[in-house]
Amino acid sequence: MNFEAIQTCLVTPHQLRQMLESEPLESWLTKSERSRLRSLRSPKRRTDWLTSRLAAKQLLRDYLNQTQNILVKLNEIEIYNEASDAPAFNIIHHSRFSIVDVNISIAHSHGHGICALSEIEQVGYVGVDIEKIRPLSRGVLRKFLNKEEMIRLSRQPISDLCENAIAYWTIKEAALKSLRANQSISLRDLRVSFKESGESSVSVADRRLQLIARYWQWKDFAIAIAHRSAAA
Ligand SMILES: CC(C)(COP(=O)(O)OP(=O)(O)OC[C@H]1O[C@@H](n2cnc3c(N)ncnc32)[C@H](O)[C@@H]1OP(=O)(O)O)[C@@H](O)C(=O)NCCC(=O)NCCS
Repeated sequence: MNFEAIQTCLVTPHQLRQMLESEPLESWLTKSERSRLRSLRSPKRRTDWLTSRLAAKQLLRDYLNQTQNILVKLNEIEIYNEASDAPAFNIIHHSRFSIVDVNISIAHSHGHGICALSEIEQVGYVGVDIEKIRPLSRGVLRKFLNKEEMIRLSRQPISDLCENAIAYWTIKEAALKSLRANQSISLRDLRVSFKESGESSVSVADRRLQLIARYWQWKDFAIAIAHRSAAA
């Protein structure tokens, strides 16, 4: 499937700092976004929230510019969460532009924010995840790996264990987000099969659903994007 048609934007804490030093919040956040920011108490959550909003806004601005030749300012793009908490957006003052076919997904980790964007008709719904690569305890592994995956992982060289476990985790979280589900689905109910092509397929227990995912590493982070067709 066409991963090239999925666009991503990653914002680092350093890039956020530069933005905050050079631009007032009003120039890139809407009024309701600023009010949401004020409601966030934890500094870590604020940084994560800000980097992921900046990533989403830059991605949407560039997408609109490239595909529809429309120039919008960052504070004309509003990112909000639907009832399921899945992210969505509005382009303020530009309702005549039809971008209903686009969906976004957001993830954050250790002050880094990432957003992925896809056209629903062409690619389907997208999900993204980013995780810092780190050792995970057996207790954590049990929360997202099913029995077969635990066995498969235990047969692999111990040196690869940490990265392989994180690969499962990010792929499953990205796949889960592409479902945009209201109800909670256990990550253990998602089954990941790695393919030689580098892509993975993800199936969901009790559902006839097949998702495709791609996983890569960037510095000491693991990143995955997944998508499912709109018909699924
Ligand atoms: C929804 C979920 C995937 C988010 O993952 P997370 O690790 O908490 O956080 P991430 O940074 O990866 O992603 C957060 C973003 O996911 C998005 N999101 C939340 N709910 C969503 C949903 N139902 N569908 C799609 N996207 C969703 C939001 O945009 C959110 O960011 P925001 O609040 O700043 O807008 C997660 O909370 C979840 O339910 N995981 C499964 C639970 C589980 O089994 N965990 C075991 C692992 S040890």
